[in-house]
Amino acid sequence: MNQSFKSAGGGADFDARDFRNALGSFATGVTVVTTVARDGKNVGLTCNSFSSVSLSPPLILWSLSLHSPSLHAFLQAPFFAVNVLGADQLALSQRFSTSLANKFEGIEFTAGEEGVPLLGGALCHLECRNETRHYSGDHVIFIGHVLRYAYRDGAPLVFWGGRYLQLDGC
Ligand SMILES: Cc1cc2nc3c(=O)[nH]c(=O)nc-3n(C[C@H](O)[C@H](O)[C@H](O)COP(=O)(O)O)c2cc1C
Repeated sequence: MNQSFKSAGGGADFDARDFRNALGSFATGVTVVTTVARDGKNVGLTCNSFSSVSLSPPLILWSLSLHSPSLHAFLQAPFFAVNVLGADQLALSQRFSTSLANKFEGIEFTAGEEGVPLLGGALCHLECRNETRHYSGDHVIFIGHVLRYAYRDGAPLVFWGGRYLQLDGC
């Protein structure tokens, strides 16, 4: 292995873009996290920082940039949902990773029990109480207590090295 180590100590030579590329070595699934703002507007964004935390109690986490226009809505919302995208939902991921005014226009979704949007065709829906948040660096980590969930079989959408991948079934 021929790797040269770079300092991430916060000095002038630290390259955040390169650090992001390094983190991109970790392949993830892709989710869209959704909620309803206080004014009733549906809010959502593409998110691959999702992770499971605890089985009992059932807890999950994801992190949101402090620069996100969606931040205010998620800080105030009592509930949110994680929608895990299937391999055929690349267009949804692209749509929800932009700052469009109404990302939900023309999108198939239903409202969960607390009114949070659940995207049609997702592999998995996790409806969560917005339980705890931790401010850490330039992101906020949200911990959700899963209230109910649904899932189906199917291939996931995968993100790796800054691009989307389809699993070949191996
Ligand atoms: C595959 C993928 C994963 C992403 N994961 C996150 C994430 O975990 N947290 C985050 O804050 N932004 C993430 N983003 C970026 C947001 O989706 C993007 O900034 C979006 O515009 C945020 O919505 P907003 O501008 O309406 O707040 C991701 C983007 C992509 C394409």
